[in-house]
Amino acid sequence: MDKLLIQGGTRLKGEIRIAGAKNSALPIMAATLLTDDYVKISNLPHLYDITTMLELLGCMGVESIIGDKLEVELNSSTINNFNAPYELVKTMRASILVLGPMLAHFGQAEVALPGGCAIGSRPVNLHIESLKQMGAQVEVENGYIKATSKGRLKGAHIFMDLVTVTGTENVMMAATLADGQTIIENAAREPEVVDLACCLRAMGADISGEGTDTIVVNGVEKLHGCSYSVMPDRIETGTYLIAAAATRGRIKVKDTRPKTLEAVLSKLEQAGAQIEIGEDWISLDMDDQRPKSVSLTTAPYPAFPTDMQAQFTALNAVAKGSGVITETVFENRFMHVHEMNRMGAQLKVEGNTVFVNGVKALIGAPVMATDLRASASLIIAGLVSENETMVDRIYHIDRGYECIEEKLQLLGAKIRRLPS
Ligand code: UD1
Repeated sequence: MDKLLIQGGTRLKGEIRIAGAKNSALPIMAATLLTDDYVKISNLPHLYDITTMLELLGCMGVESIIGDKLEVELNSSTINNFNAPYELVKTMRASILVLGPMLAHFGQAEVALPGGCAIGSRPVNLHIESLKQMGAQVEVENGYIKATSKGRLKGAHIFMDLVTVTGTENVMMAATLADGQTIIENAAREPEVVDLACCLRAMGADISGEGTDTIVVNGVEKLHGCSYSVMPDRIETGTYLIAAAATRGRIKVKDTRPKTLEAVLSKLEQAGAQIEIGEDWISLDMDDQRPKSVSLTTAPYPAFPTDMQAQFTALNAVAKGSGVITETVFENRFMHVHEMNRMGAQLKVEGNTVFVNGVKALIGAPVMATDLRASASLIIAGLVSENETMVDRIYHIDRGYECIEEKLQLLGAKIRRLPS
């Protein structure tokens, strides 16, 4: 397994470009199952999860043409297998996103039940219940969700008990081809849900209300092909900004969408960063100062994202003062805390809260990545350590961060990959 070796103590300085958003690209790739035409997707990030989704669609018979500029054309008219196997689903929970579109277009789908994962049990009961409300027959048997629909799905009034991002996306996609109107209440408002809605509209869907907690979809008989460019990755953007703030640096991130990061930028300002924004760029300057601790609580968009919690914990670990971080979206999302404590951080977990007493610097140590965003936080911890940190199991990071060591090297970090 590859490892990353980091020599800490360098202030990050310079400019980088942000890739397309993983969490937008995955549902958009799944949405191509809703039409028999070619759909061309550009600005795809170069990530392991994207390859997994291509592999999943490929094993179902979807034809793909991969271009040289991070674009792909997908055509599902050649589909001949309606099964998403456990071998692929277990490596990427977002595979569940093929359920709604396959059921809506082909009237059948078998998707392995995603198991537990490092950040909690993450059930998919709301995806299943909503599709049942739309008239689907759904059984869970031998670890598989087996769904069928006689004729078109039916529009329904769905109230989501919890705000779920992929749940909202699955139902929204299924509803595009349903008979009648579907109203999704307590819908996720995440920018990636909005990006998916824009792509579906370009395919001929009739959707409104995306970005609010009530999404209305009037089903149509057929969708068509389109060309769509995936939005920039707000989590990648935030991760580099936090890394720069933790190292007392000065960076500019380009090709991003500042409006999708308001909660994160506000916390970075509280931490002492000077932030400037343009239409598609953000600059951050710490004026060589140590960051100040901030307190935060994660919650669905537009509140502070759970996918940035671990990185902010790393920043707080070396900040002046003490802060309190509360995680309300996932259970068990503090695996990084124990690794950071091994690096000399003073973090104490109580229930879903971490109490942080900032120290001046961490001390490098061998650490283990446990999930995607935890890996990013351990890299930030390594960058603010006094000596060498070795991050093991970095396959997690390759699932969600494109060329992370190259981008950090561009910003002056001393980081290199040690291949297994
Ligand atoms: C998506 C993101 C992930 C992010 C998360 C929360 C993708 C591919 N992944 O994950 O990066 O961390 O949103 O912003 O977009 N829940 C249920 N029943 C369900 C569905 C969800 O109880 O049927 C619970 C989950 O266990 C969790 C909460 O709802 O506690 C939110 O999860 P959800 O928004 O569904 O996360 P994902 O869509 O899997």
